[in-house]
Amino acid sequence: MFGLIISLLVGKTIKASTFMPVQGSQVAAQVDSLYMFLLVTSAIFCVLVIGGLIYFVLKYRRKSDDDKTAYISHNNFLEFLWSFIPFVLFMIMFGWGWHVFHQMRDFSKDSLEVHAVGQKWFWDFKYKSGKSSAGEFYVPVNTPIKLIMTSKDVLHSFFLPGMRIKQDVIPGRYTALAFTPNKEGTYQVFCTEYCGDQHSSMLAKMKVVSQEEYEQWLQEDASAGLSLVEVGQKVYEQKCAVCHNTNAERKVGPGFAGLYNSERQFADGSSAVADENYIRESILVPGAKVVNGYPPAMPSFQGQLSEDELSGLIEFIKSLK
Ligand code: CUA
Repeated sequence: MFGLIISLLVGKTIKASTFMPVQGSQVAAQVDSLYMFLLVTSAIFCVLVIGGLIYFVLKYRRKSDDDKTAYISHNNFLEFLWSFIPFVLFMIMFGWGWHVFHQMRDFSKDSLEVHAVGQKWFWDFKYKSGKSSAGEFYVPVNTPIKLIMTSKDVLHSFFLPGMRIKQDVIPGRYTALAFTPNKEGTYQVFCTEYCGDQHSSMLAKMKVVSQEEYEQWLQEDASAGLSLVEVGQKVYEQKCAVCHNTNAERKVGPGFAGLYNSERQFADGSSAVADENYIRESILVPGAKVVNGYPPAMPSFQGQLSEDELSGLIEFIKSLK
């Protein structure tokens, strides 16, 4: 039913089967197989259980006033079977589901990164080159994509039915999705978290195109803005350079070179890998994780940087090797 409704909505954009939207990636095909398995298994057990119920009601109904029910206490073999068969089925569903889910969160190092920002009631997209667009974004076919998402106001949810991926978009932190489109075309993006009056019109389009067409689109008004890294460098010079070096040497705080993706040891003995969320937190809530050997001297930059400046600064730090 769910698939039918979605395909009716998406069918306008892309010709799809009447049951499911078009499969835009390999994972999409895997999701559909799993969905089919769940549907068929449920249908079989529905027929068995309801059919059995009707059969027993008819066969063992009370036929006369002195009809007596036979005394049956238990049956070990049957009880084992009706526990073991569901157990095996559920474990198959769990393992299969985990395998598919894992691929939606598996970010390969050579992914093309696209920043998506949700706000009432539209989607903004930004690329490393500084290219930005609203309501529509392009990706090249057969390229792993990493969507890095956040929200400017309330909870939204980014849903790409053609890729069978969906993820909450949360103010104050990043969430991410991975997918590799393998079919060119236009795909519908929905917001699937009720976010206010115009929630249902919070839409966007994703165009999956050839590498050449993608690069052409990326060049269009590329001179309009600074690249994310350039935006970040400006912020760095104005706000961070007093305390942080662009090489690995310490100043008041740690140097930025090689920081991204490195393991950080904290004063409280814990540790974490410096990903986008860690860097974001360190800028906005510096006291949350203080690197071992440094004073907790950094002020918070909460409310002082726009989402673009934050993303830019993070990209700048990522670019320092
Ligand atoms: Cu944004 Cu619903």
